[in-house]
Amino acid sequence: KGKRAFIAGVADDNGYGWAIAKSLAAAGAEILVGTWVPALNIFESSLRRGKFDESRVLPDGSLMEITKVYPLDAVFDNLDDVPEDIKANKRYAGSSKWTVQEVAESVKEDFGSIDILVHSLANGPEVTKPLLETSRKGYLAAISASSYSYVSLLKHFLPILNPGGSSISLTYIASERIIPGYGGGMSSAKAALESDTRVLAFEAGRKRKIRVNTISAGPLRSRAAKAIGFIDMMIDYSSANAPLQKELSAEEVGNTAAFLASPLASAITGTVLYVDNGLNAMGVGV
Ligand code: NAI
Repeated sequence: KGKRAFIAGVADDNGYGWAIAKSLAAAGAEILVGTWVPALNIFESSLRRGKFDESRVLPDGSLMEITKVYPLDAVFDNLDDVPEDIKANKRYAGSSKWTVQEVAESVKEDFGSIDILVHSLANGPEVTKPLLETSRKGYLAAISASSYSYVSLLKHFLPILNPGGSSISLTYIASERIIPGYGGGMSSAKAALESDTRVLAFEAGRKRKIRVNTISAGPLRSRAAKAIGFIDMMIDYSSANAPLQKELSAEEVGNTAAFLASPLASAITGTVLYVDNGLNAMGVGV
């Protein structure tokens, strides 16, 4: 029987979330996505109007189907967390049930269970500021949107994740090595995410036989990455210095996620898996 995946963090066809959705769809999975509320309208209308049709093409020539798009804001666990100004905001008021708990409840109502949970989202309002210039508020916002959002998603989806299932997030090597420019507490947020991957692997493994892994991906020109401002430089740096001197494609990360979600990876949990043309292994640039 086919597997069902919920992928949080898809709002266009440029990012890792979209590529993961495609690789999972190509492997036969049913695709559900969670889209950030402020991006929902554009994403849904672009999908409807066929703007993504070219990028929906799967290796067998068919088009990837997204069975359902759920509005999601992963910084809110339930309605009690939502401040008045957000509740009153036009874009948020225009849809409903977008807190993490409500989305998990909706997926349960609609489909009963899932097999694969993917977290492909991050946000750091002060990402362009060095850590020394980052405010407490900015730092905590980065951790909330980029790290706790994963704890919360897994917590709320765990009861409907079928045993044997797999959960995957995306991280970046700035968690463990100095990457000037990846600021605002985003490096800290990725360090938390990687540490949590180990602890969550233990807890979700013992509790429901769920595997938990994170992919440390190389640079990709996504919408989020363009907002950081140094993505072209990072891509050039990687091409110049990595063992494999080619541009990383999102599909290579998508295919790794499909592997991690498959029975081929049935003994892999609690790991940080590098998909970066090997750049992480270099000690100096040459
Ligand atoms: P992206 O822009 O395709 O994905 C980020 C998504 O997060 C967007 O769809 C955005 O709408 C969503 N989002 C932001 N705040 C949210 C919230 N509060 N609730 C729900 N959704 C929210 O960009 P990308 O780069 O593909 O990012 C996906 C993951 O990959 C992130 O975790 C990122 O840190 C990671 N990554 C990206 C790298 C890159 O070079 N692009 C390198 C290594 C890791």
